[in-house]
Amino acid sequence: MLRRLYHDQPESFAFTPANQAWAETQIKKYPEGRQQSAIIPLLWRAQEQEGWLTRPAIEGVAEMLGIAYIRALEVATFYFMFQLQPVGSVAHVQVCGTLSCMICGAEDLIGVCKEKIADKAHDVSADGKFSWEEVECLGSCSNAPMVQIGKDYYEDLTAEKFAWILDELAAGRVPTPGPQNGRYAAEPLGGLTSLGEFDSGKTKYNASAQLASDIGDTVKRIDGTEVPLITPWVKSEKSAAKTSAPKAKAAAKPKAAPKSDEKATVAAKKPRTMKVPRKAGADDLKLIKGVGPKLEKLLNTLGFYHFDQIAKWSAEELSWVDENLEGFKGRASRDEWVSQANTLAKGEMTEFSSRFSKGDVY
Ligand code: FES
Repeated sequence: MLRRLYHDQPESFAFTPANQAWAETQIKKYPEGRQQSAIIPLLWRAQEQEGWLTRPAIEGVAEMLGIAYIRALEVATFYFMFQLQPVGSVAHVQVCGTLSCMICGAEDLIGVCKEKIADKAHDVSADGKFSWEEVECLGSCSNAPMVQIGKDYYEDLTAEKFAWILDELAAGRVPTPGPQNGRYAAEPLGGLTSLGEFDSGKTKYNASAQLASDIGDTVKRIDGTEVPLITPWVKSEKSAAKTSAPKAKAAAKPKAAPKSDEKATVAAKKPRTMKVPRKAGADDLKLIKGVGPKLEKLLNTLGFYHFDQIAKWSAEELSWVDENLEGFKGRASRDEWVSQANTLAKGEMTEFSSRFSKGDVY
């Protein structure tokens, strides 16, 4: 397929302040002279912001990275994940048309797209809400036929079910992603025939669908404000000043090889901790999604017993906790413990804690 820029382009592009801050921090991940390596995340964020990749956005990203426009254009036109024309305001639907899906009914799904969205792939529907395209195998062949809508997969589809999903999305509702024929994951339709002992302890939906449903961002675009920006690769100001001062003096000298024990200082700060829980007893930290019995014990050992302690963590403190979760590094920011704890500290329930309290999570 010939991938060209859309004929009708906006005048300009600018990242939102949150996205700009995010983009600048991403660039810092790469060593001096290698900033262009940030091109894919930056183009992707521009697409998330605008819905599609405009020429001014590609130019803007090229400028940020100090590379020629043609180099950014090469990347944007090479990868099919970049949409070079406007997409539906609700969702862009990607229908897998490869072997398994094709023999299981992908053509019927494409028929639904043609009927409900637009006759031609990449055209936006008359109401502006949807667009579609046929894509190569999305790696979910055992749940064929399937489509990707926004960030998630809808699998084991029939034309009727797919049409219903589009109607729901058009009405502002987001059906639960994952298998649509009653299967939990990719097991036989009649149920497990082996390894039945692993059937217990499962969540309501399979891991992917559960996470999709917990996060709830299927057709929501990332805008840079989702989670505190965790930047362990950015040196603290103090450490940066320390390392940059002798640099000017030594500028004329050849670069010394870095010592093996030199590590970037993590911008992390230890939060306030408690030796013991308050008199009323510790909170059940397992109500936070991502905290199981082991992590609860570890958190207690580190001095965290209450939701309101966790709710107060700053980005630096969250970074410290992430670093100190031995065996679970990064889990606190990945599962957004701070915002969950914030809700729980107010005495409110999160979607996960309600399910947990009902015994719907094992
Ligand atoms: S063939 Fe459709 S997901 Fe692989």
